[in-house]
Amino acid sequence: MPRQHAGSNGWLLLTTLGLVFALVWLTRSRPDEPHLHRANPKAAHRLGALVNQAKGAADTPSAPLAPDAASSNSLRQRIVAVGDIHGDLPAVTSILRRANLIDLKGQWIGGEDILVQTGDIVDRGPDTIALYRFFQTLRAQAAQAGGAVHSLLGNHEMMNELGDWRYVTKEDIASFGGERNRREAFLTGWIGREFRANYSITERVPFLAEASAAARFDPPLQHTAASFVHGGITPEYLSSLDPARDPIAEMNRIGRDLLFSLLDVPGGVPLSLPRSATPEQRHFWSEEGPMWNREWATSDEDEICDRVQKVCDQLDVRHLVMGHTPQFEGILSRCDGKVLLIDTGISRAYGGAHSSLSITYTLTPASELSLADALALELVSLDDPVPEATLRSDKLRRTWVEVEEVEALYTKGRETERIGRWERVVERS
Ligand SMILES: *[C@@H]1O[C@H](CO)[C@@H](O)[C@H](O)[C@H]1NC(C)=O
Repeated sequence: MPRQHAGSNGWLLLTTLGLVFALVWLTRSRPDEPHLHRANPKAAHRLGALVNQAKGAADTPSAPLAPDAASSNSLRQRIVAVGDIHGDLPAVTSILRRANLIDLKGQWIGGEDILVQTGDIVDRGPDTIALYRFFQTLRAQAAQAGGAVHSLLGNHEMMNELGDWRYVTKEDIASFGGERNRREAFLTGWIGREFRANYSITERVPFLAEASAAARFDPPLQHTAASFVHGGITPEYLSSLDPARDPIAEMNRIGRDLLFSLLDVPGGVPLSLPRSATPEQRHFWSEEGPMWNREWATSDEDEICDRVQKVCDQLDVRHLVMGHTPQFEGILSRCDGKVLLIDTGISRAYGGAHSSLSITYTLTPASELSLADALALELVSLDDPVPEATLRSDKLRRTWVEVEEVEALYTKGRETERIGRWERVVERS
């Protein structure tokens, strides 16, 4: 009797050990697989529907845990940003191919991804016409696929509108068939119309389409968006805007007013702002304004991070992404990723790094996590009798995991650089 007892204890011990080893193996055997990134882009429906769906799913007996399940309820959004291009079409197509947004023919294959270009497409290089056409076409293709292309104006776009052509190349002028044609194209012609209809000064791009749904989480999904602008947005500039209005809309309104005012200047615009420019337009077009400011790039980090945080809070974003001040070595992150400088001098006029910034955001119900991810996040433990069952149990039904990954992508064989990865467990309230 005692021997038999000891024997069955031994079996139990062996079985338990086996299970533990299997779990440890499962946790360690896929070290290179990025966690939580398996969401099917097609599953990125509207958050409300998904939350309900997930709620329904949690009420019914659980489906087998399948890490690669195509029916994932994960919400996922990828945002790619490209800085100053300065007349180099081949550079930008190779960058967008590297980011899997276009195919070899330059057609959008980015699905529901979002591309942001932060201005300065023109000047220093000759491909002006091809580049503005390219982005115009890509914008329509992206919209068709459920994605988006956001185009921002840089100081060089505005300089061309203002008649400041100091950085325009001879080839560029020739490609329009002369100065007169080029001037007309930028004011009343197709480029001018495109700027006035489809370009903005600054954008706040939410990580998930329905940001309002973020309020349903506890702690709330704070600042789930990024800000994009050509130069930089300082708290001082923000405080000069009408506090009763949305600052993003205000900056865009001021830029738009300025652009439209240039159509009415008799005899063209003399190299700087027209005499009729208002004080708010002058401030906007100064070194303190969003198109020219370089402070987040040039000041010491100790001096800026508090003020950067202020701007993030005011704009309700996690990152301030901007071009304008070249970082030839590659994308530069400051203040723990709150400032992301993406002008890497990609034009052959500079010969800098061919880069893009990639932000991938996922929100995943705990029930859809792999066991490895759930263990890593300590949502289940190896001490649980059946960890998988714990993962599927009522206990975790309101638990979701938010992951944000920010990377710098490069062409010419340079490895992807991880800028930051932020992971948080949140409860649906
Ligand atoms: C704005 O962009 C869309 C999509 O690219 C394009 O079809 C349209 O012609 C553009 N509008 C102007 C005025 O250029």
